[in-house]
Amino acid sequence: MGSSIIQSTGYDIFIGKGSILELNAFLQEPKFCNSRLFALVDEFTAEHCLPIVSSFVDRFKEIQVLEIESGEASKSIEVCTRLWKTLGEMGADRQSLLINLGGGVIGDMGGFVASTFKRGIPFVNVPTTLLSQVDASIGGKVGVDLDHLKNEIGVFSSPKAVFIYPDFLKTLSRREMMSGFAEVVKHALIADASYWDFVRNTNVADGAVWQKMIEYSIRVKNSIVQADPYEKGLRKALNFGHTIGHAIESFYLESPSQKLLHGEAVAIGMITEAYLSHLKTGLSHKDLKSISNFIMERFGYKDLEPMADHRLLELMMHDKKNVGEELNFTLLKAIGSCEVNCTVDTYMIKEALKFYRDYQSWN
Ligand SMILES: NC(=O)c1ccc[n+]([C@@H]2O[C@H](COP(=O)([O-])OP(=O)(O)OC[C@H]3O[C@@H](n4cnc5c(N)ncnc54)[C@H](O)[C@@H]3O)[C@@H](O)[C@H]2O)c1
Ligand SMILES: [Zn+2]
Repeated sequence: MGSSIIQSTGYDIFIGKGSILELNAFLQEPKFCNSRLFALVDEFTAEHCLPIVSSFVDRFKEIQVLEIESGEASKSIEVCTRLWKTLGEMGADRQSLLINLGGGVIGDMGGFVASTFKRGIPFVNVPTTLLSQVDASIGGKVGVDLDHLKNEIGVFSSPKAVFIYPDFLKTLSRREMMSGFAEVVKHALIADASYWDFVRNTNVADGAVWQKMIEYSIRVKNSIVQADPYEKGLRKALNFGHTIGHAIESFYLESPSQKLLHGEAVAIGMITEAYLSHLKTGLSHKDLKSISNFIMERFGYKDLEPMADHRLLELMMHDKKNVGEELNFTLLKAIGSCEVNCTVDTYMIKEALKFYRDYQSWN
């Protein structure tokens, strides 16, 4: 069982079937062999992923498991408070290690809880969704939501290592797979035209492509993060699809009756921002069509009608990536290359939302 290793900012990322054995070896390293071990899980990763860890990790019996309820609603400061208290009651000290076993919610919140408990204890990420394997588990951003504002509270803090075992994806729902696939699509669009050709011909349900897809995607994200770990400039490339995408996601967070996954919102964000790229940064009409058609075909059309443009614009204005009143976007110059810090006025944003809403008629 082999694995590839990618080096990030001060930690290694292991990808492949062998990554779970690397986790086992890591827990036996001298610096952690006397550490108390804790794992953060939700009910689904407790059911599907913990048993896999238990069959490969020799120290499994020592691991004290903290379980939270799955879902974005758990990514809150209230749940963090509960976890800090529980860690204290269970005897966690500065040498203890937290293993985040789950998707982006577990990784973001577990990383934040670990980074702030007793001024910071070490943590590792064992991501179990496609989204967390290709995106959330690397890059050092950890945090929680504040009411309906996504990732409003957080810090930059890196894990000690990341272990990516693609076979965890076998139990993931198709909808969650597609949510992660949106980030894969984004990585290709912002950085690599040849990867876009691979992605366009990928059937995400086919386990045979997972390792290559995850590795390729992480290489894109990792090289951007390494060049700009604190998001001073270049890292904003990763925001493609996310300015409008986040606003749509936040809009849905405000409405308890409907649910939209992160990647589903980003898919809409990528179509609308590809349209802005056509207007502002020279993305050709042919590329705009090829991006929009592909995303529509894979993700389907979502009725944006209930979303008021003015509320979406308010949410975009609030986005911390915007400076002052100007709306800041990362746009595509062509497939595989992008430009950060493009300012766009609200009229164009409304046009982009209209472009999406009118999809049926322009096809
Ligand atoms: N830190 C970052 O850089 C970064 C980047 C992107 C996204 N994020 C964050 O990540 C979060 C979304 O992550 P996500 O999409 O992984 O969501 P998630 O963590 O909510 O997981 C999705 C669902 O899948 C279940 N699940 C997880 N692994 C499973 C498995 N192997 N089999 C069956 N079910 C499984 C979970 O229990 C959950 O119900 C958001 O909060 C987002 O803000 C962070
Ligand atoms: Zn994202």
